[in-house]
Amino acid sequence: MKTIVVGKHEFAGKIATELKEATFIELEERIFPDGEVCPRLLIKDKNILQDSHVIIAMQLSLAQPKNQYLISLLLTIYNLKQYGAIKITCIMPYHIYSRQDRESRIGEPISSKFLASMLEAAGIDEYLTINSHSYGKNPLSDFFKESKSISLTAIPLVAKTVQKLSNSSEDILCFSPDEGALMLAKEAADAIKSPFYGAIRKIRDPETGNISQELIGIDLSLKDRSILIVDDLVSSGGTMVGAAKIFKQQGAKEVYLGYIHGVHTIEKFEDLQKEDIQLFVTTDTIKLDIPGLITVSVVKLIADWITSNLQ
Ligand code: R5P
Repeated sequence: MKTIVVGKHEFAGKIATELKEATFIELEERIFPDGEVCPRLLIKDKNILQDSHVIIAMQLSLAQPKNQYLISLLLTIYNLKQYGAIKITCIMPYHIYSRQDRESRIGEPISSKFLASMLEAAGIDEYLTINSHSYGKNPLSDFFKESKSISLTAIPLVAKTVQKLSNSSEDILCFSPDEGALMLAKEAADAIKSPFYGAIRKIRDPETGNISQELIGIDLSLKDRSILIVDDLVSSGGTMVGAAKIFKQQGAKEVYLGYIHGVHTIEKFEDLQKEDIQLFVTTDTIKLDIPGLITVSVVKLIADWITSNLQ
Protein backbone atom coordinates (compact mmCIF):
# COMPACT_ATOMS: atom_id res chain seq x y z
CA MET A 1 0.00 0.00 0.00
CA LYS A 2 1.42 3.43 -0.88
CA THR A 3 2.13 5.81 2.01
CA ILE A 4 1.10 9.45 1.78
CA VAL A 5 1.86 12.11 4.38
CA VAL A 6 -0.54 15.04 4.57
CA GLY A 7 -0.09 18.33 6.42
CA LYS A 8 1.97 21.48 6.39
CA HIS A 9 5.40 21.62 4.85
CA GLU A 10 7.23 22.61 8.05
CA PHE A 11 6.12 19.58 10.10
CA ALA A 12 4.42 16.87 8.00
CA GLY A 13 6.81 17.61 5.14
CA LYS A 14 9.76 16.83 7.41
CA ILE A 15 8.18 13.55 8.50
CA ALA A 16 7.70 12.61 4.83
CA THR A 17 11.37 13.37 4.12
CA GLU A 18 12.44 11.12 7.01
CA LEU A 19 10.22 8.30 5.70
CA LYS A 20 11.89 8.44 2.27
CA GLU A 21 9.35 6.24 0.44
CA ALA A 22 6.36 8.45 1.24
CA THR A 23 4.61 11.00 -0.98
CA PHE A 24 3.86 14.36 0.60
CA ILE A 25 0.64 16.30 0.03
CA GLU A 26 0.54 19.85 1.31
CA LEU A 27 -2.56 21.08 3.10
CA GLU A 28 -3.75 24.60 2.51
CA GLU A 29 -6.01 26.18 5.12
CA ARG A 30 -8.28 28.98 4.05
CA ILE A 31 -9.97 30.97 6.79
CA PHE A 32 -13.10 32.82 5.73
CA PRO A 33 -13.89 36.26 7.19
CA ASP A 34 -16.50 34.70 9.51
CA GLY A 35 -13.86 32.38 10.99
CA GLU A 36 -14.91 29.17 9.19
CA VAL A 37 -12.02 27.07 7.92
CA CYS A 38 -11.67 25.26 4.59
CA PRO A 39 -8.72 22.84 4.45
CA ARG A 40 -7.74 21.87 0.91
CA LEU A 41 -5.52 19.01 -0.23
CA LEU A 42 -3.18 20.45 -2.84
CA ILE A 43 -3.56 17.62 -5.37
CA LYS A 44 -3.89 17.61 -9.14
CA ASP A 45 -4.79 13.95 -9.63
CA LYS A 46 -8.16 12.99 -8.08
CA ASN A 47 -7.08 9.35 -7.75
CA ILE A 48 -3.80 9.84 -5.94
CA LEU A 49 -5.30 8.94 -2.54
CA GLN A 50 -7.12 5.84 -3.78
CA ASP A 51 -6.20 2.74 -1.70
CA SER A 52 -3.51 4.60 0.22
CA HIS A 53 -2.34 4.66 3.82
CA VAL A 54 -2.46 8.33 4.77
CA ILE A 55 -0.54 9.75 7.69
CA ILE A 56 -2.01 13.11 8.54
CA ALA A 57 0.27 15.11 10.84
CA MET A 58 -1.06 18.44 12.03
CA GLN A 59 1.07 20.61 14.29
CA LEU A 60 -0.89 23.18 16.28
CA SER A 61 0.46 26.68 15.99
CA LEU A 62 0.26 28.97 18.98
CA ALA A 63 -1.35 31.60 16.80
CA GLN A 64 -4.17 29.29 15.62
CA PRO A 65 -7.35 28.94 17.69
CA LYS A 66 -7.52 25.33 18.92
CA ASN A 67 -11.13 24.83 17.85
CA GLN A 68 -10.35 25.94 14.32
CA TYR A 69 -7.39 23.53 14.28
CA LEU A 70 -9.68 20.71 15.37
CA ILE A 71 -12.35 21.39 12.74
CA SER A 72 -9.69 21.65 10.06
CA LEU A 73 -8.28 18.27 11.12
CA LEU A 74 -11.71 16.60 11.19
CA LEU A 75 -12.67 17.99 7.77
CA THR A 76 -9.38 16.81 6.30
CA ILE A 77 -9.83 13.28 7.67
CA TYR A 78 -13.37 13.21 6.25
CA ASN A 79 -12.03 14.43 2.90
CA LEU A 80 -9.26 11.81 2.82
CA LYS A 81 -11.92 9.10 3.18
CA GLN A 82 -13.94 10.65 0.34
CA TYR A 83 -10.85 10.51 -1.85
CA GLY A 84 -10.36 6.80 -1.21
CA ALA A 85 -7.78 6.49 1.59
CA ILE A 86 -8.15 3.07 3.17
CA LYS A 87 -6.06 3.57 6.28
CA ILE A 88 -5.66 6.83 8.15
CA THR A 89 -3.10 7.45 10.88
CA CYS A 90 -3.79 10.73 12.62
CA ILE A 91 -0.89 12.48 14.35
CA MET A 92 -1.86 15.23 16.75
CA PRO A 93 1.52 15.96 18.40
CA TYR A 94 -0.21 17.91 21.16
CA HIS A 95 -3.49 16.25 22.08
CA ILE A 96 -5.74 19.26 22.56
CA TYR A 97 -8.34 19.16 25.34
CA SER A 98 -6.06 16.59 27.01
CA ARG A 99 -6.40 18.08 30.48
CA GLN A 100 -10.15 17.60 30.39
CA ASP A 101 -9.81 13.84 30.79
CA ARG A 102 -12.01 13.49 33.86
CA GLU A 103 -15.04 15.15 35.39
CA SER A 104 -13.30 17.55 37.78
CA ARG A 105 -16.58 19.26 38.70
CA ILE A 106 -20.05 17.85 38.36
CA GLY A 107 -21.65 18.89 35.08
CA GLU A 108 -18.43 19.06 33.05
CA PRO A 109 -17.85 16.94 29.93
CA ILE A 110 -14.90 14.56 29.57
CA SER A 111 -13.81 16.52 26.53
CA SER A 112 -10.70 14.49 25.74
CA LYS A 113 -12.86 11.35 25.43
CA PHE A 114 -15.32 13.07 23.10
CA LEU A 115 -12.46 14.39 20.99
CA ALA A 116 -11.37 10.76 20.46
CA SER A 117 -14.92 9.82 19.36
CA MET A 118 -14.99 12.70 16.88
CA LEU A 119 -11.70 11.62 15.30
CA GLU A 120 -12.98 8.04 15.04
CA ALA A 121 -16.28 9.20 13.54
CA ALA A 122 -14.34 11.22 10.96
CA GLY A 123 -12.54 8.02 9.93
CA ILE A 124 -9.19 7.47 11.64
CA ASP A 125 -7.79 3.96 12.15
CA GLU A 126 -4.81 4.86 14.27
CA TYR A 127 -3.94 7.79 16.53
CA LEU A 128 -0.52 8.96 17.61
CA THR A 129 0.42 11.73 19.98
CA ILE A 130 3.40 12.79 22.06
CA ASN A 131 3.23 12.55 25.85
CA SER A 132 -0.49 12.34 26.25
CA HIS A 133 -1.68 13.91 29.46
CA SER A 134 -3.84 10.81 29.97
CA TYR A 135 -1.91 7.90 31.37
CA GLY A 136 -2.11 5.91 34.56
CA LYS A 137 -5.77 5.74 35.53
CA ASN A 138 -7.02 7.41 32.31
CA PRO A 139 -4.97 5.93 29.46
CA LEU A 140 -5.67 7.08 25.91
CA SER A 141 -6.93 3.59 25.05
CA ASP A 142 -9.92 4.21 27.36
CA PHE A 143 -10.96 6.97 24.97
CA PHE A 144 -10.03 5.54 21.55
CA LYS A 145 -12.34 2.52 21.54
CA GLU A 146 -12.33 1.71 17.81
CA SER A 147 -8.81 2.64 16.83
CA LYS A 148 -5.29 1.98 18.00
CA SER A 149 -3.83 4.82 20.09
CA ILE A 150 -0.18 5.47 20.82
CA SER A 151 1.54 8.04 22.99
CA LEU A 152 5.29 8.38 22.43
CA THR A 153 7.50 10.02 25.00
CA ALA A 154 9.84 12.89 24.16
CA ILE A 155 11.05 13.24 27.76
CA PRO A 156 14.43 11.52 27.05
CA LEU A 157 15.03 13.95 24.16
CA VAL A 158 14.29 16.94 26.39
CA ALA A 159 16.32 15.64 29.37
CA LYS A 160 19.36 14.85 27.23
CA THR A 161 19.19 18.33 25.66
CA VAL A 162 19.08 19.91 29.13
CA GLN A 163 22.05 17.81 30.21
CA LYS A 164 24.02 18.83 27.12
CA LEU A 165 23.29 22.55 27.41
CA SER A 166 23.51 22.94 31.18
CA ASN A 167 26.60 24.19 32.98
CA SER A 168 26.38 21.34 35.42
CA SER A 169 29.33 19.00 35.63
CA GLU A 170 27.55 17.11 38.43
CA ASP A 171 24.48 14.90 38.47
CA ILE A 172 21.22 16.67 37.67
CA LEU A 173 18.40 15.63 40.01
CA CYS A 174 15.04 15.18 38.27
CA PHE A 175 11.68 16.23 39.69
CA SER A 176 8.10 16.60 38.51
CA PRO A 177 6.11 19.60 39.75
CA ASP A 178 3.23 17.33 40.81
CA GLU A 179 2.80 13.70 41.80
CA GLY A 180 0.84 12.87 38.63
CA ALA A 181 3.95 13.48 36.54
CA LEU A 182 6.35 11.42 38.69
CA MET A 183 6.79 8.92 35.82
CA LEU A 184 8.15 11.74 33.67
CA ALA A 185 10.76 12.56 36.30
CA LYS A 186 11.75 8.88 36.32
CA GLU A 187 12.03 8.83 32.50
CA ALA A 188 14.21 11.95 32.61
CA ALA A 189 16.42 10.48 35.34
CA ASP A 190 16.82 7.22 33.40
CA ALA A 191 17.69 9.10 30.20
CA ILE A 192 20.49 11.14 31.76
CA LYS A 193 21.52 8.47 34.28
CA SER A 194 20.65 10.67 37.21
CA PRO A 195 20.79 8.98 40.62
CA PHE A 196 17.55 10.60 41.82
CA TYR A 197 14.01 11.46 40.84
CA GLY A 198 11.07 12.70 42.89
CA ALA A 199 7.91 14.79 42.88
CA ILE A 200 6.48 17.88 44.48
CA ARG A 201 3.00 17.65 45.97
CA LYS A 202 0.54 19.96 44.23
CA ILE A 203 -3.04 20.58 45.27
CA ARG A 204 -5.38 22.49 42.97
CA ASP A 205 -8.62 24.06 44.17
CA PRO A 206 -11.18 22.84 41.59
CA GLU A 207 -13.31 25.97 41.94
CA THR A 208 -10.66 28.71 41.78
CA GLY A 209 -7.91 26.77 39.97
CA ASN A 210 -5.41 28.10 42.55
CA ILE A 211 -2.59 25.72 43.43
CA SER A 212 -0.45 25.06 46.48
CA GLN A 213 2.77 23.06 46.31
CA GLU A 214 5.13 21.57 48.86
CA LEU A 215 8.21 19.39 48.91
CA ILE A 216 7.60 16.27 50.96
CA GLY A 217 9.47 13.13 51.83
CA ILE A 218 12.83 14.19 50.36
CA ASP A 219 15.61 13.35 52.82
CA LEU A 220 18.36 14.67 50.60
CA SER A 221 20.00 18.10 50.70
CA LEU A 222 19.28 20.14 47.60
CA LYS A 223 21.79 22.83 48.47
CA ASP A 224 24.03 23.68 45.52
CA ARG A 225 22.45 20.94 43.43
CA SER A 226 21.29 21.22 39.82
CA ILE A 227 17.62 20.41 39.39
CA LEU A 228 15.66 19.52 36.28
CA ILE A 229 11.88 19.93 36.61
CA VAL A 230 9.96 18.06 33.90
CA ASP A 231 6.30 18.21 33.01
CA ASP A 232 4.07 17.34 30.09
CA LEU A 233 2.98 20.94 29.52
CA VAL A 234 3.24 24.52 30.62
CA SER A 235 0.24 26.79 30.21
CA SER A 236 0.01 29.68 32.70
CA GLY A 237 3.43 28.68 34.06
CA GLY A 238 2.12 28.72 37.63
CA THR A 239 2.98 25.07 38.32
CA MET A 240 6.59 25.39 37.11
CA VAL A 241 7.18 28.75 38.80
CA GLY A 242 5.90 27.39 42.13
CA ALA A 243 8.17 24.35 41.83
CA ALA A 244 11.22 26.37 40.78
CA LYS A 245 10.78 28.69 43.78
CA ILE A 246 10.67 25.71 46.15
CA PHE A 247 13.99 24.38 44.83
CA LYS A 248 15.63 27.80 45.02
CA GLN A 249 14.43 28.14 48.62
CA GLN A 250 16.13 24.81 49.31
CA GLY A 251 19.41 26.33 48.06
CA ALA A 252 19.53 24.74 44.59
CA LYS A 253 22.29 26.24 42.46
CA GLU A 254 20.62 25.84 39.08
CA VAL A 255 17.06 25.03 38.04
CA TYR A 256 16.23 23.87 34.52
CA LEU A 257 12.75 23.41 33.07
CA GLY A 258 11.97 20.72 30.51
CA TYR A 259 8.46 20.33 29.14
CA ILE A 260 6.94 18.73 26.10
CA HIS A 261 4.11 21.06 25.11
CA GLY A 262 4.50 24.82 25.28
CA VAL A 263 0.83 25.78 25.61
CA HIS A 264 1.79 29.28 26.64
CA THR A 265 1.90 32.68 25.02
CA ILE A 266 5.10 34.64 24.58
CA GLU A 267 3.98 36.87 27.47
CA LYS A 268 3.61 33.89 29.82
CA PHE A 269 7.05 32.68 28.79
CA GLU A 270 8.50 36.10 29.53
CA ASP A 271 7.00 35.82 33.01
CA LEU A 272 8.82 32.49 33.43
CA GLN A 273 12.06 34.13 32.34
CA LYS A 274 11.76 36.63 35.21
CA GLU A 275 12.27 33.73 37.65
CA ASP A 276 15.69 32.45 38.68
CA ILE A 277 15.67 29.62 36.11
CA GLN A 278 18.75 28.82 34.07
CA LEU A 279 17.42 26.87 31.06
CA PHE A 280 14.13 26.26 29.27
CA VAL A 281 13.73 23.34 26.89
CA THR A 282 10.59 22.22 25.07
CA THR A 283 9.61 20.44 21.82
CA ASP A 284 7.93 21.39 18.55
CA THR A 285 4.64 19.55 19.27
CA ILE A 286 3.27 23.10 19.15
CA LYS A 287 4.74 25.60 16.72
CA LEU A 288 6.45 28.25 18.84
CA ASP A 289 9.16 30.66 18.00
CA ILE A 290 10.13 32.27 21.27
CA PRO A 291 13.58 33.70 21.97
CA GLY A 292 15.20 32.00 24.95
CA LEU A 293 13.14 28.82 24.61
CA ILE A 294 15.15 25.91 23.23
CA THR A 295 13.04 23.66 21.04
CA VAL A 296 13.91 20.07 20.16
CA SER A 297 12.07 18.40 17.30
CA VAL A 298 9.89 15.32 17.67
CA VAL A 299 9.88 14.71 13.89
CA LYS A 300 12.44 11.90 13.98
CA LEU A 301 10.78 10.25 16.98
CA ILE A 302 7.52 10.12 15.02
CA ALA A 303 9.14 9.04 11.75
CA ASP A 304 11.06 6.23 13.46
CA TRP A 305 7.86 4.93 15.03
CA ILE A 306 6.07 5.00 11.67
CA THR A 307 8.95 3.22 9.94
CA SER A 308 8.95 0.38 12.44
CA ASN A 309 5.16 0.06 12.38
CA LEU A 310 4.33 0.45 8.68
CA GLN A 311 2.27 -2.46 7.39
C1 R5P B 1 -1.27 19.21 35.21
O1 R5P B 1 -1.77 18.15 35.49
C2 R5P B 1 -0.30 19.38 34.09
O2 R5P B 1 0.54 18.29 33.98
C3 R5P B 1 0.50 20.64 34.21
O3 R5P B 1 1.30 20.56 35.37
C4 R5P B 1 -0.36 21.85 34.31
O4 R5P B 1 -1.46 21.76 33.47
C5 R5P B 1 0.43 23.11 33.98
O5 R5P B 1 -0.42 24.20 33.95
P1 R5P B 1 0.07 25.65 34.37
O6 R5P B 1 1.30 25.97 33.57
O7 R5P B 1 -1.10 26.53 34.01
O8 R5P B 1 0.32 25.65 35.84
